Amino acid sequence: MAMTGVLRPGHAQIRVLNLEESIKFYRDVMGLIETGRDDQGRVYFKCWDEQDHSSYIIREAPQAGVDFIGFRVLDEATLESLESNLNAYGVETRRLPAGDLLETGERVRFTLPSGHEFELFATKTKVGNGMPLTNPGPWCADAEKGISPIRFDHALLYGPNIADVKKIFVDVLGFFMVERVIAEDNTTEVGIWLSCSHKVHDIAFVEHPEPGKLHHCSFLMESWERVLRGGDIMSMNKVEVDIGPTRHGITRGCTIYAWDPSGNRFETFMGGYHPYPDYECLTWTMDNFGQGLDYPQRKLHESFLTIVS
Ligand SMILES: [Fe+2]
Repeated sequence: MAMTGVLRPGHAQIRVLNLEESIKFYRDVMGLIETGRDDQGRVYFKCWDEQDHSSYIIREAPQAGVDFIGFRVLDEATLESLESNLNAYGVETRRLPAGDLLETGERVRFTLPSGHEFELFATKTKVGNGMPLTNPGPWCADAEKGISPIRFDHALLYGPNIADVKKIFVDVLGFFMVERVIAEDNTTEVGIWLSCSHKVHDIAFVEHPEPGKLHHCSFLMESWERVLRGGDIMSMNKVEVDIGPTRHGITRGCTIYAWDPSGNRFETFMGGYHPYPDYECLTWTMDNFGQGLDYPQRKLHESFLTIVS
C-alpha cells in the first residue's frame, strides 16, 4: 500500500519513578540503545533496528505513566495539512518548537477525548541502525544485547470517550479499524485496534473511566524464539511478568507482558497478520473475550484488565 499521511508510532515519553534504575533496566535488560540526555533530565532510547534518533524517552516523576505518544508523518507539508484538518474538525492543536525533543522537529500536539496527549511530527534525525546503507548485514552487535526488540511498535491506551477518539483517528488522521471488542449490548465498542499502515495495529484504545492511562507500550521481536528468549532474560533479571508467553486471539500477536521497575507495563511480541485498509474489521464479543485476550488459555487475566499506569 502507498504510505502517506501518518506513517508510524515515532516516540513515547514515559514517566519513571527512579531514573537511574530505569536507565539500567531499559539499557541492560531491555537492550535499548541510549541516544541522548537533555537539560530537562530526559533520557532518550531507540531500538537497535530503528533508524530515527529516539523512540522511547523516559523522565523521572512521582507517578508512572505516559506523558505523550508521537506519530511520524510523511513530511512537513503533511504535518501542516493534518494540523489544519484537525483544527477544522474542532480539535485544538498547539506547536512545540523544534529541538524541544532532541533531534526532533516541530510537533503538533493535541489532547484526545480519552485524555491522552498525542502529537504528530515530520522531522527526526536519522542516526541509522548501526549498519551501512550499502551492503548491510542482517543484524549488528546491538541486536544481541538484552531483550533487544527491533522497534517500538504500538501502544494500548486506556481512557474515556473512545468512540470520539476513533472518529479523530479514522475521519481525520486516516487510520482504519482492524479489530474491536464490543460490549454485552453487541453494539458499544469498548476496545479498538487501529492501523495507519500494514500492521495489525499502530495504536489501540480501551474504554476506561480514568483519562490518560497507559496499558502498555509494545516492542516488536524478530521471532517467537526471541520472545521466549526475552522471557528468559526477564526471569534472569527478576522482572515482574504479567501474562505470557502466549498468543492473543485479538491481532494474533504472540506475546509476553511485564512491568518496568516503575510499574509501566510493556509488551514484547511478534506475529499478527497484515491488514489492508479495505479489510473488514474483526469483532470480538464479551462472551468470548477470554480467547481474544489469551487464545490458548481462554482466560480473563484480572491484572491485565485492571492495572494501568
Ligand atoms: Fe500490544
